[in-house]
Amino acid sequence: MSKFNFDNLWSEKSTDAQRIITDHAKYDFAVAYPPFEGVPLDGLIDGLRTKVDADSQKVAIEMAYYPHVQGDESLREFTSKKLLDDRGIKCDKESLVLCNGSGEAIGLLIQALIDPDDYVITEQFVYMGTTKQLTYFNANIVGSPTDEKGLIPEKLEETILDIKNKHGVNPKMLYTIPESQNPTGSTLPKQRRIEIIEICKKYGIPILEDDCYVDNRFAGEPEPAFASLDDSGMVIYVGSFSKLIAPGLRMGYFTASEEVIDRALSVKIGSGPNQFTSYAIDGFLRSNLESHRNEYNRLLKGKKESMEKGLIEAFSNTKVKWSSPEGGCYTWLEMTDGTNLSEIRDEVFTRGVGYISGDNFAPNGDGQNMARLCFAFETVEKNYEGIKEFASILKDLKAI
Ligand SMILES: Cc1ncc(COP(=O)(O)O)c(C=O)c1O
Repeated sequence: MSKFNFDNLWSEKSTDAQRIITDHAKYDFAVAYPPFEGVPLDGLIDGLRTKVDADSQKVAIEMAYYPHVQGDESLREFTSKKLLDDRGIKCDKESLVLCNGSGEAIGLLIQALIDPDDYVITEQFVYMGTTKQLTYFNANIVGSPTDEKGLIPEKLEETILDIKNKHGVNPKMLYTIPESQNPTGSTLPKQRRIEIIEICKKYGIPILEDDCYVDNRFAGEPEPAFASLDDSGMVIYVGSFSKLIAPGLRMGYFTASEEVIDRALSVKIGSGPNQFTSYAIDGFLRSNLESHRNEYNRLLKGKKESMEKGLIEAFSNTKVKWSSPEGGCYTWLEMTDGTNLSEIRDEVFTRGVGYISGDNFAPNGDGQNMARLCFAFETVEKNYEGIKEFASILKDLKAI
């Protein structure tokens, strides 16, 4: 039988990009996964059981319906209380929307606000999932300068003015990851958050705050959320259960003013997220949030320390620098200007060490001499060994 020919049928939006197949190096620091040994499988199963046993008829009826467009009511109520307790954010179950991962939430919010050619400001280096979505919707992304603490308020204002002067338009949105940033690991101090809110208010720019890693703190204290520092509705807050429990659950959420929620839901196709998963998360977290989070963060701390030990031993006498985050999953490595980690990435991968070079996170295309190293996934031993191996490969390639 001859093969059906789709050649003249593809939509304008689709491309022939290759399917993403994740290959894992022996020492895989390229991933964005939380510690697999901390995934609370029994706890989630018990949580599900508890919910079913509490009212099996209600569960059966809810399961027979398509989920509420904002997701399970009980998990929304729990999450809004968690946001108040942990982040000082005042919202209720009506102003919270559960999504199929926070990636979906970000996508809905982008569609609610961004037209093709609009300008969106992000950190200088920023999570690729969001830049991919922004690119898909044809936004112009401009990275604003950062230092080891994150966005620099004065530079942000310069970035805004630059866009206005060069392109004659006001940026449409600031997207930021203020806690344990992906990829750099930085946490933005409260004072900078206050200044950024003032600047954004001055120019009428909403802030999309992505707090994906706030639960993964193993040292120090989190800074107050942007969303707790402003009550004008300009801050839209996105969170996730992926890094608190597991990405495989596909459950994230956002909270925003009523009008933003309505707009975001207006572009959503289909029902709310998986009801069955919601029961498991709700049943589990209602009695285990603190103990689970502490255990997860204990694991993360050990892993971060073992990677750092490797970095200190391997790179102390070189010009290589790295960040020492107090939370999240990533260390940010910076080599001297001439080193191109992007160019040698495949060779280093073949020799056993995976990382993502900095240019992948840079809307402005710089960062070839930088890399994100995920310390959350590999074991304590492999984090240490892998960094030593990494250094020896770099030496061999004359990169250090
Ligand atoms: C900063 C940030 N935001 C959002 C996400 C998306 O997470 P999910 O869709 O699993 O909730 C990620 C995933 O790595 C992330 O790093």
